[in-house]
Amino acid sequence: MVPTATCRVCAGTVTEFMDFGRQPLSDAFRDPADTSEEFFYRLAVGACADCEMVQMMEEVPRERMFHEGYPYYSSGSSVMRDHFRSTAQKLLAEHAAGDDPFVVELGCNDGVMLETVARAGVRHLGMEPSTGVSEVARDKGVRVRNAFFEKATALRIREEDGPADVVYAANTFCHIPYVDSVLEGITALLAPGGVFVFEDPYFGDVSEKASFDQFYDEHFFLFTATSVRNMARRFGLELVDVERLPTHGGELRYTLAREGSRTPAPAVGALLAEEDKRALTSPEVLSSFTRRVGENRERLVEELRSLRDQGRRVVGYGATAKSATVLNFCGIGPDLLEFICDTTPAKQGRLTPGSHVMVRDHGAFTDSYPDYALLLAWNHAEEIMAKETGFRDAGGRWLRYVPDVRTT
Ligand code: SAH
Ligand code: TYD
Ligand code: ZN
Repeated sequence: MVPTATCRVCAGTVTEFMDFGRQPLSDAFRDPADTSEEFFYRLAVGACADCEMVQMMEEVPRERMFHEGYPYYSSGSSVMRDHFRSTAQKLLAEHAAGDDPFVVELGCNDGVMLETVARAGVRHLGMEPSTGVSEVARDKGVRVRNAFFEKATALRIREEDGPADVVYAANTFCHIPYVDSVLEGITALLAPGGVFVFEDPYFGDVSEKASFDQFYDEHFFLFTATSVRNMARRFGLELVDVERLPTHGGELRYTLAREGSRTPAPAVGALLAEEDKRALTSPEVLSSFTRRVGENRERLVEELRSLRDQGRRVVGYGATAKSATVLNFCGIGPDLLEFICDTTPAKQGRLTPGSHVMVRDHGAFTDSYPDYALLLAWNHAEEIMAKETGFRDAGGRWLRYVPDVRTT
């Protein structure tokens, strides 16, 4: 029998469509001297028959993921720095035009977005439970509170700072299973004409590209316009705009407002109709996704084994959180990958969770180019290709697995 779970949004029935097996915490990079037992959970995902929300079958306690040592620093990509600078400018122009506007961000991380808001002299608050990354935000002049955003903390903001004109969250709302608490908090915090704007990986792109590594502990939900519209309604909110973004392999930016307060943009109806046509959460489309993922896994492992057997040097590029799913699901360890290079100091000298591949600095890659590089940070392909032309010039080849396994 196919396992089921209770929908975190509507309490309907979630039917599993993909089981990735036992997985570690994706950002728990490990000190090689650490001999303590690693934490594992079962990563499986399903879709709700009632509200269409794609979600994990099991939830990982939030404190295990987001804490002082959380090693993801948003400013590590120049494309993302530009993206968040222009996002801040857009939010300020469109939603913070009145007297003394107030901007709140969930998951402000190292201040990559709020830095621009702070520089503009606009009142703001970043909610960030991971204290390490938040210190970098503070150094940039960003006002941060180290707490999880939820109803209680939202009420406190409302009491102390007054209503927010815009609440923004990038790659954070999909990390939060307790949506009822967050959306009740947001409705309490927003000014009457205020908006909640958030952007997260789009299940429509995940389905199209079979980018199964968008599933890992921190990504509890994979949203669509349809599932977000259905969720918002339950809280008196309405989906009034959607925008497709090229970031992180394909995302959607959603704008929610109080029901009836704004006329929805034509893009909303158009995307809802497109999703209807694609039947993204129908059993047929979901089982085709599962099948393609299985095929890609086999091809990737075959390719890596064959390269090893030919005595080629293969390294990974980018110790992403996503890579935890790829490495552990495919059984890729130090026998197939010599090391993974990554520019994040907090990950260097550590082992990847579960798969135990050493993470080394960028110089380890450029000092002695390997024959092949497995592009684990495939969502940053353009930026990486632009700066690594030397690798190709030296005869190196990229190995990719999204949307299918190929060398380029
Ligand atoms: N916005 C950044 C960071 C994304 S990583 C970007 O797009 O790059 C997700 C961040 O959300 C982490 O820094 C994590 O600590 C934070 N987070 C997780 N749960 C949260 C919650 N309930 N409220 C606020 N931040 C949260
Ligand atoms: P990212 O794909 O943004 O997110 P996630 O961890 O959620 O999957 O992570 C990118 C990682 O790749 C991050 O650890 C920084 C690293 N990186 C490099 O090492 N070099 C680069 O040029 C870029 C863009 C990223
Ligand atoms: Zn549901």
